[in-house]
Amino acid sequence: MKIAVIGTGYVGLVTGTCLAETGNEVLCIDIDKNKVKQMQEGVVPIYEPHLDVLFERNIKANRLKFSTSLEEGLEHGDIIFLALPTPEDEDGSADLKYILGVADEIGKLIKDYKVIVDKSTVPVGTSDKVKEAISKNAKVDFDVVSNPEFLREGFAVDDFLKPERIVVGSSSDRATKLMEKLYKPYVRSGNPIIVMDEKSAELTKYASNAFLAAKITFMNEIANFCEKVGADVDKVRIGMGTDSRIGKRFLFPGIGYGGSCFPKDVKALHKSGLENNYNFKILDAVINVNARQKLVLIPKIENHFNNNLEGKNIAIWGLAFKPETDDIREAPSLYMIDALLEAGCNITAFDPEAMPNVKRKLGNKIQFADSMYDALKDADALVISTEWSIFRTPDFSKIKSLMASPTIFDGRNLYDVNDVKNEGFKYVSIGR
Ligand code: UDX
Repeated sequence: MKIAVIGTGYVGLVTGTCLAETGNEVLCIDIDKNKVKQMQEGVVPIYEPHLDVLFERNIKANRLKFSTSLEEGLEHGDIIFLALPTPEDEDGSADLKYILGVADEIGKLIKDYKVIVDKSTVPVGTSDKVKEAISKNAKVDFDVVSNPEFLREGFAVDDFLKPERIVVGSSSDRATKLMEKLYKPYVRSGNPIIVMDEKSAELTKYASNAFLAAKITFMNEIANFCEKVGADVDKVRIGMGTDSRIGKRFLFPGIGYGGSCFPKDVKALHKSGLENNYNFKILDAVINVNARQKLVLIPKIENHFNNNLEGKNIAIWGLAFKPETDDIREAPSLYMIDALLEAGCNITAFDPEAMPNVKRKLGNKIQFADSMYDALKDADALVISTEWSIFRTPDFSKIKSLMASPTIFDGRNLYDVNDVKNEGFKYVSIGR
């Protein structure tokens, strides 16, 4: 099938590349000329495992192309995916200016029937607004469909190619049939394509992300409480997770959720509630508890150093908001770094992928190390903020020989408490 993807951010790029992978002819459109030029030369602008291989293969096969011309995209595609940014407004709601701006243009440019697909995470009712914006100028028939993505960073290619479910919000049989044809190769395993009205599809995305954010936040509170009463959150987590109604996943406590989706989506749903005369009290609590959780290690560190952090050398392992990504949006590490710098610490950090992004943001406020061990030279404490696999089985005697004092504050519960203590470390983790 012939597809255009408008917007080559994270979602657009993964969508376009993975749609080309099953034989569709995909044209990706972006207004950023440099980025388009780069992509035409085969350079993937983001780090996402496996994406580079698919990208190269499909460009070579002539199924994946790039352009800056929206007009060209609309001529090429029968299905037009909108994967445009929906940044957080000052008041927490999602800003629709990019989506509605493009919708306006689409109305002026389309010459025959198109299915316009909202792929971005958008508030309930956006598909109506997109329809309205296109209708203002359109002289031909078109349909607007809501098709939220459920891609996890670091696993986006796999999530796209083998989705647990595909949600299609559509009130047009013609559009639904096209969407089912497009997605059929991805659900051979028997996973469902769930068709519903547009508003329910839009809400499904927000409800899923907000639920997962609440699940994590609930466990973070249980972990904090475990510390008060001397229970072990790892045991509680396993005890709870074996109940199939609860499930084992997303029960890992830590230093709060971050990233481009959960923080933004929870706030946007809360705001959307208020706009519709509904106060989501549970989301208010999730937002506040998560903000507190990002800094949960700080009082523990202060306590260890008798409230005097001035001049202390702190090593940080992990800057990305989670492993397998270079994304630092809403990363707990940045909140901790701010607090530690404020208190007078010297910070040396290592992250396998995210250091360039942090360097752009913080300049020389902190030092960056070439390896995880280099970060530890003369450190008074190590703080772990991302659970990258390479941090999971370190050489503890090497760590000890490098550090000024063998002290680890682990925001991701990577190690067995007794093992690390037996190695001679002071070890502080979450809820254990
Ligand atoms: C999320 C959703 O999973 C995905 O479906 C949606 O489309 C986009 O948002 P992503 O933000 O890439 O994906 O990351 P995810 O792996 O879901 O983790 C989100 C955050 O929760 C991270 O900060 C992670 O560290 C945290 N987390 C996750 C926990 O603290 N504990 C857990 O048990 C799981």
